[in-house]
Amino acid sequence: MTQRKGIILAGGTGTRLYPITIGISKQLLPVYDKPMIFYPLSVLMLAGIREIAVITTPQDRDQFIRTLGDGAQWGLKLSYIEQPSPDGLAQAYLLAEDFLAGAPSAMVLGDNIFFGHGLPEQLAAADREGPGGTVFGYRVADPERYGVVDFDISGGVRGIVEKPEQAPSPYAVTGLYFLDGSAPERARAVRPSARGELEITSLLEMYLREGLLHVQLMGRGYAWLDTGTHGSLLDAGNFVRTLSERQGQQVGCPEEIAWSRGWIGDAQLRARAEIFGKNGYGAYLRGLLGEG
Ligand code: DAU
Repeated sequence: MTQRKGIILAGGTGTRLYPITIGISKQLLPVYDKPMIFYPLSVLMLAGIREIAVITTPQDRDQFIRTLGDGAQWGLKLSYIEQPSPDGLAQAYLLAEDFLAGAPSAMVLGDNIFFGHGLPEQLAAADREGPGGTVFGYRVADPERYGVVDFDISGGVRGIVEKPEQAPSPYAVTGLYFLDGSAPERARAVRPSARGELEITSLLEMYLREGLLHVQLMGRGYAWLDTGTHGSLLDAGNFVRTLSERQGQQVGCPEEIAWSRGWIGDAQLRARAEIFGKNGYGAYLRGLLGEG
């Protein structure tokens, strides 16, 4: 099978976080000690994906390039695609069609943060799935805010509904989608919803109708954090801080993942640490090298 490629969808207007996001993209805001996009980027890296397209608004593109560069510092190949207006998540597959060139993909939303024991194994399992797609269901207290899994009586998946008034289950579909190489072609058949967007749930429904959609549940030991409101953004930062200070281990550190997988060597890690000087992030990277 062709090597799976990654997409980080990091466009959108971020209006729910105004006035903060008037001048800066939501996905570049800090979540404790790093830009939000580092977390979804880390998830793709944990899935073993090294060729990634970042989709941004035209006006935010330069700031993303300044923050992430060409990815070589992490042994990655990053490219950038502009989304002129936020016309829906499924549009990402149309915009990324040339980039994907028929390859299967994993798309993650640039504001989704995942944490949990066993995540790399769960990602690897999704990567190994043959034709079709895999999405992840996560139990939440407020499913109406998300795409929601509708289970039939025997626990099979009957449907996925976008922001239903009455949620058919407490399981939200997270913003991480493993789809096969047919996603761009299928996305062309998606028609705008009542709110005028090319909904990801419509694309997923196509897979589902053909019996090609796998829904994996992420158990309660996982954290799937929300960053959609001022309060939840702060909570996400506090979560990362609490965990990383308690354990003395970083959450969502691309340098660490790249180095531990052998995508960069000691010299490259040391060079990165130099950039961060004496701050905690730099000290952490030097600590990995035993040079703390
Ligand atoms: O977070 C998971 C949820 O994400 C799923 O459960 C839903 O099925 C899915 O529709 C989506 O719901 P949201 O209400 O969170 O979507 P939102 O419009 O907030 O967009 C999610 C992120 O994607 C946000 O950071 C902005 C970015 N985005 C969004 C759209 C519509 C884009 O980059 N381009 C877009 O066209």
